[in-house]
Amino acid sequence: MKIKNILEKACAKNNLTKDEIKVLLEAEDEDKDLLFKTADRVRKEHVGDEVFLRGLIEFSSYCKNDCFYCGLRRSNNQAQRYRMQEDEIVEVAKRAYQMGYHTVVLQSGEDMFYTKDRMCSIIKKIKENVDVAITLSIGERSYDEYKAFKDAGADRFLMRFETSNEKLYRQYHPGMSFEKRIECLKWFKNLGYELGTGFLIGLPGQTIDDLAQDIILVKELDADMIGIGPFIPHPQTPLKDAKEGSVDLTLKSIAILRLLIPDANIPATTALGTLDPLGRQKGLMCGANIVMPNVNNLKYKLKYELYPGKICINEDATKCRGCIESIIVSLGRKVGQGKGQSRHYKRAA
Ligand code: 5AD
Ligand code: FES
Repeated sequence: MKIKNILEKACAKNNLTKDEIKVLLEAEDEDKDLLFKTADRVRKEHVGDEVFLRGLIEFSSYCKNDCFYCGLRRSNNQAQRYRMQEDEIVEVAKRAYQMGYHTVVLQSGEDMFYTKDRMCSIIKKIKENVDVAITLSIGERSYDEYKAFKDAGADRFLMRFETSNEKLYRQYHPGMSFEKRIECLKWFKNLGYELGTGFLIGLPGQTIDDLAQDIILVKELDADMIGIGPFIPHPQTPLKDAKEGSVDLTLKSIAILRLLIPDANIPATTALGTLDPLGRQKGLMCGANIVMPNVNNLKYKLKYELYPGKICINEDATKCRGCIESIIVSLGRKVGQGKGQSRHYKRAA
């Protein structure tokens, strides 16, 4: 199979077979360059040169789950735990808005301290104070809660399925179910959220075949936002001795998904920037159009350790804002104005 033909088909049909995706994932040298160039062109055609910023507020580091790869897993008794008060979260959202963020992402471990009523109150208060889009990234809840959050004003939901290989999913997510995960993702669509999902690259035992299937699943779920990041081993988890995920495979996955869902929002993730000092730049040059800097107070940033070595951990939010803008400008792009809703998103009729 010629790369050129596969890329032509991807651009014309926004669809590829698993074998074709595998060929792209294994592309090297000029073939790989052609994949990245094509994805960059498609990005420009469909979502333009604007790079939208999302202010990430990690408001609780408590988690009831025990994911094998994550530093916040409940069995990690060395993890530093914190919960932000409602007013504090609203203050950080206000500050983010003043710095020019028009979307805030409320992220946490799966922490049931934040009940339906507490979450709704936080969402409403932010919306009363500032004109931002709100993205939730708080894990699995009931349909009823998701509906209440949407009614309270939440706009978008991020939840990666992490891996489409059900055996690996079971192995690395004790007590959780892949089926439940997918059910939640379908609910988000039904409830009118912009749907964000994605997966980890390089979980031990994951094959190229699995990654191709992950890409197909994102396409099938018809995601509006796509988050893909390399796995980074955390020393206080069962996967501490595993090898980190490949930056190259992450970039290729971003590029392929740009071709399959051309108008989606795709971030150049922090994990990508952590493994490669130029990772975010590289992501933005092969299909990505979003960056999600942390806007939280320094004292919390340090404690939200999904994986070690996270970039920007000692920088205050104003510094990150300036730094990100200069990266965007250095690539000949510009900071997006407005909320940057996914162009793929179609409001329910
Ligand atoms: N390395 C990279 N990404 C991780 N995440 C959690 N732990 C790690 C890790 N060790 C990612 C998961 C989750 C997101 C919030 O962070 O994919 O969905
Ligand atoms: Fe909860 Fe990772 S252990 S999100």
